Amino acid sequence: MRNLLGLEEISAEEIRRLLLSATGFKEILSRPVRKAPTLRGRSMVTLFYEASTRTRTSFEMAAKILSAEAINVAVAQSSVTKGESLQDTVRTLQALQMDCLVIRHQYSGAAEYAAKKLDVPVINAGDGRHEHPTQGLLDLISVCEHFGRVQSMDLSGLTIAIVGDISHSRVARSDAWGFSRLGAQVRFAGPKTLMPSNCRSLPVTVCSDLKAGLEGADVINVLRLQTERQEKGLLPSLREYSRQWGISARSMQWAKPGALVMHPGPMNRGVEISADVADGCHSIIFDQVTNGVAVRMAVLYQLMGVERE
Ligand code: NCD
Repeated sequence: MRNLLGLEEISAEEIRRLLLSATGFKEILSRPVRKAPTLRGRSMVTLFYEASTRTRTSFEMAAKILSAEAINVAVAQSSVTKGESLQDTVRTLQALQMDCLVIRHQYSGAAEYAAKKLDVPVINAGDGRHEHPTQGLLDLISVCEHFGRVQSMDLSGLTIAIVGDISHSRVARSDAWGFSRLGAQVRFAGPKTLMPSNCRSLPVTVCSDLKAGLEGADVINVLRLQTERQEKGLLPSLREYSRQWGISARSMQWAKPGALVMHPGPMNRGVEISADVADGCHSIIFDQVTNGVAVRMAVLYQLMGVERE
């Protein structure tokens, strides 16, 4: 593995290797002094053209815990505002001797484009509606933990329902590849106007009614309406969307009793998820965030660590 651009192109074996490494790194997170010298002398640059709280912060924490330098380029204050191209921006960062680039961009394919221009590893932290592989990995490890599958990293027999704005979500696509590689059945459930036309090329079944989507599901992953990527007029109103597609105590009854509730964040409480479900006893939303640090430590180690030398 030279870059991490998407889960579509990595094998089940590689996914399992990363997840096992993440469980090892999780142990460091529980120590009183959270520091390991593993990546001393290396530098990771984060270049985010879109907003982020969890992803950018957890990459930075992951790098710092492993003793790497973490440098953030604030895009709004950078030469991007003077018209500098993506190519020149990433090549400039390479000339500054970065060892790894973590990039988030509004266009699908931007991370792959950067990888083609660079000799250093590139990690896709979300490109348009294409993929968000580290979110996919942290979702996988969170489900493995909660179903006692960490030893096997095998999710056979489980049904994962991914609900909401599928067509604008990069998380939906990374999760579809990741969960199906580990043996789970994946369902997409959402309004027809928010369902991608290319679902047939993905390892999923599609449900255009919430009850059918949730029936028998072991895990419900709720997605935010990605309004920043949506054309207008795809939904009658937010209230109508929430009534038909929102995950609430009422709709949870259709899933398996005790089904886990996930959300990649940020949540719009009262729109795609009700506050009582988000904060309820089956929600693992904040465990996902913690696992994000361990997964990103594993990815940084894999791409920048001594193993590469
Ligand atoms: C997701 C993203 O950016 O794709 N957020 C995240 O990284 N946790 C989902 C979202 O923005 O809704």
